[in-house]
Amino acid sequence: MRSMSILAFCGLLCLSCGSPQLNRHNVDKVISQMTLNEKVRMLVGTCTDPAQPPYPAPGTEKSGQKLVFDVVSSSTAAKKVQGAAGEGYAIPRLGIPSMVYADGPAGVRIDPVRASEPDKEFRATAFPTASLLAATFDTELVEKVGASIGQEAHEYGVDIILAPGMNIKRNPLCGRSYEYYSEDPYHSGKIAAAMVRGIQSNGVGTSVKHFAVNNQETYRNGINSVLSERALREIYLRAFEIAVKEAHPWTVMSSYNKVNSVYASESAYLLTDILRDEWGFNGFVMTDWWAADDPVRQQIAGNYLLMRGTPSQIETIKKAVENGELDESVLDRNLKDILETMLKSPAFKQYPYSDKPDLEAHAAISREVAAQGMVLLENNGVLPLQDGLKVALFGNFSYDTQVGGSGSGYVHRVHKISVEQGLAEAGYRIDGELAKAYTEHIADEKSRMEPENFWRIPVAPELELTNEEIQRSVKDNDLAIITIGRMAGEGDDRTMRQGDYLLTDYENRLLGNVCTAYHSAGKKVVVLLNMGDAIQMNGWNKLPDALLMMWMPGQEGGYAVADILSGAVCPSGKLPMTFAKSWSDIPSSKNFGVSPGETNAVRYEEELMVGYRYFSTAGVEPEYPFGYGLTYTSFERSEPKVTAGKDGGYKVELDVTNSGDCAGRDAVLLYVGKTAPEGPSAQGRPLKELCAFTKTEVLQPGQTSHIVFNLSAEDLKLWDVENKCWCQPVECSFSLSL
Ligand code: GLC
Repeated sequence: MRSMSILAFCGLLCLSCGSPQLNRHNVDKVISQMTLNEKVRMLVGTCTDPAQPPYPAPGTEKSGQKLVFDVVSSSTAAKKVQGAAGEGYAIPRLGIPSMVYADGPAGVRIDPVRASEPDKEFRATAFPTASLLAATFDTELVEKVGASIGQEAHEYGVDIILAPGMNIKRNPLCGRSYEYYSEDPYHSGKIAAAMVRGIQSNGVGTSVKHFAVNNQETYRNGINSVLSERALREIYLRAFEIAVKEAHPWTVMSSYNKVNSVYASESAYLLTDILRDEWGFNGFVMTDWWAADDPVRQQIAGNYLLMRGTPSQIETIKKAVENGELDESVLDRNLKDILETMLKSPAFKQYPYSDKPDLEAHAAISREVAAQGMVLLENNGVLPLQDGLKVALFGNFSYDTQVGGSGSGYVHRVHKISVEQGLAEAGYRIDGELAKAYTEHIADEKSRMEPENFWRIPVAPELELTNEEIQRSVKDNDLAIITIGRMAGEGDDRTMRQGDYLLTDYENRLLGNVCTAYHSAGKKVVVLLNMGDAIQMNGWNKLPDALLMMWMPGQEGGYAVADILSGAVCPSGKLPMTFAKSWSDIPSSKNFGVSPGETNAVRYEEELMVGYRYFSTAGVEPEYPFGYGLTYTSFERSEPKVTAGKDGGYKVELDVTNSGDCAGRDAVLLYVGKTAPEGPSAQGRPLKELCAFTKTEVLQPGQTSHIVFNLSAEDLKLWDVENKCWCQPVECSFSLSL
C-alpha cells in the first residue's frame, strides 16, 4: 500500500481529531501545531543510519584517502523509492508527506532492482554528462533533456532531482568536471537554467549545486576556498545567480567546503544576504550529504534542510532551542519555506506515479543530444566516412565505452551502446579478430575486479597489441579508429599521472604505430576521446586524420558517434573549456587539489582569469580554445550590427549563412570587452567575456539565419571593487571570436 494512501488515511483520521491538514492557506497554522520534536525532525533528512556517516568529518580526510561511500546506506536513504539519495520526514497527522530526493545531473539514480518487486526493473535513461550538454550551446535541447529527466523522476515517485551540478570548470583535474558545464559563468548559468526549466516543467523540483566555490574534490569536506569578492561575484556565484533568477529552482544545495573561512552551509552571507535577499530565491537550501559542522549555525544561516542528517544533529538543534541558544521562530521560518515548496511536490499532490517512464522516447533524445554536443577537433577531410568501410577498432573504450562518470552522478542505465555496436549497426564492417581480442581481454580483466557500482567504475588496463597484429589489420581494413578514454568521478580529483591527464607510454606507442602503419599504406586513422574533460595534447593530437571529442556521451553514445562519423549528423559542438597545451599553462594549476596542510586553504589567486579569460588576455596559445569546434560545412557571418539601448543594454544582430555544401548548425558565441570605470575595478579585467550565444536551426547550403542578441544591463554588469556593488561598463565592444 503506497504511503500516499496511508497519508490520505491518516489525514481522514486526523480530520476527526482536529489537526489541521496542510494546504496552501494554512502553512503557519500547521507549523504552530507541530511539537518541537516534529519541527526539528522536519529539518533533518532521513537519518536511518545510526552509524556515523561514511564521509570523514570535515577537514579530517587523510591525504589520498579514498571516500568509501557506504552503498548500503544509500539504499536505506529513502523508504519510498529504494536507492534514492534521501527522503524527508513525514507528519501524517498534519497531512505532511515525506519528499523523495534523487540524483542526478545525467539522469535519475535509483536502485534498478528491488527485492520487494523482483519481477520489475527501475532503470533510467543515462543522458550525456554536463560537459557534452554545455558543448551543444543549445539551451532548447538541454531543456528537452531536462524535461525527459523530470518525466522519469515524476514517474518514479521522486519529488526533487539533485541537479544540475553547475560549478565552474576551474581546472580539468577536478574529479567532477564531467558533471559540470563550463569554464564560463554565463554559459554555465544559461545551460543550468535550461536544465532547471526542463526538469521542473514536469512538476518536480531541482537542486542547483554545489553552492558555492566547490571546484575540486581533494579535501572537499574541509577545503577553504579563498577568493576575492569580485571573483566570487563575477565567476563563482554568477552562474547560480542566472539560474536562480531565470529558472527559479525549488531548492539549492550548499557545498561541503568553506568560502573565505565560513562553511558554505553555515554562511548567512551566501544563503540569506545574497541568495535570498539579493536574488529573491524563495525555495529552501539543503546541505550536501552529511555536510555538517554546526547544525545550529546552519539553521540560522539559512540552510534549512540537513541531508541526510544524523541523530546527533537532531539532538543538537533540540538542545539549542531548549537552552535558548536557538529561537524557535528560526525553525518556524525555515519550515515555512520547506512546506511552501512541498505544496508543489508530487508527494503532496499524491501523484499516482506509474514506475513506467517513457524510456524509449528518452533514448532517442539522449542520442540526438549526444551527437549535437560532440566536438570535432581535427579533420583533414577523412570525415564524414564513406558507407560500409572495413574498420579496425582499437582501444578498450571502443568496446567498453564509458557513458558517464562515477559517484552520485551515475545512472543505472537502460543499456550501453558502445562505439563498436554503434558503428556496426551503421553498416561499418568491424574487424572481428581485433573485436574478439579486445572483448575477451576486457572480460578477463574485469572478472578480477570489483563489479561496477555507482561509486566506482572499474576500467581494464589497455590490451597491448604487437606490431604484427597492427600490420595484419592494415591489410584487412580500410580505416583505423582508436578510442582513448578516461574515467573520473566524485570523491577524487584526476591526477597528472600517465593514464589520466597524460597519455600512457603504451597509448603513445599505439597511436604512433597505428598511424605509421596505416599512413604508409595510404589509409586513414580517426581518434575518439571518451572522457569528461581535457587531457594533455603535446602533438599526438596531430598524428591522426581526425580527432573527435565524444565526451561521456550517455547510454546511446555509440549511435551518436556513428551519426557523426557517417555524416548523418554534421558536427556542431563547441568546447565549453579551454584545452591548454600544458597543464602548467592553466593559472589555477598553481593552486589546485594540493594538500593544503593545516589551513586547508585553496587560494583562487587567478581571480577572474579562469579559462579563456586568461588565455585570450595573456596571449597564451591554447591547444584548442573555448568555443572551438569544426564542422563538415562552413559558415559565413556578417559583421555584427550593434545598437545601444537606453537602459545600458545593447542589440547585436548578424546573419549566418551556410557557405558549404552540406546542411549543418552553427553555434554563434558573442563576446564583450567591458571598459570598467577608472580605479581598482579596471585592474585585472579580462579582454573578452562571453555575453550571449545561440545555435542556429539546421541551415541548408546557401541558407541564411538572422540572429538577434538582446543584451540587458544585467547581462553586462561588472563588480565595482571599491564600492562593493555591481556597476555598468563605461563602454562595450562586441566580437564573435576570442
Ligand atoms: C553527494 C554529492 C551531491 C549528491 C549528494 C546525494 O555527496 O556531493 O552532488 O547530490 O551527495 O547523493
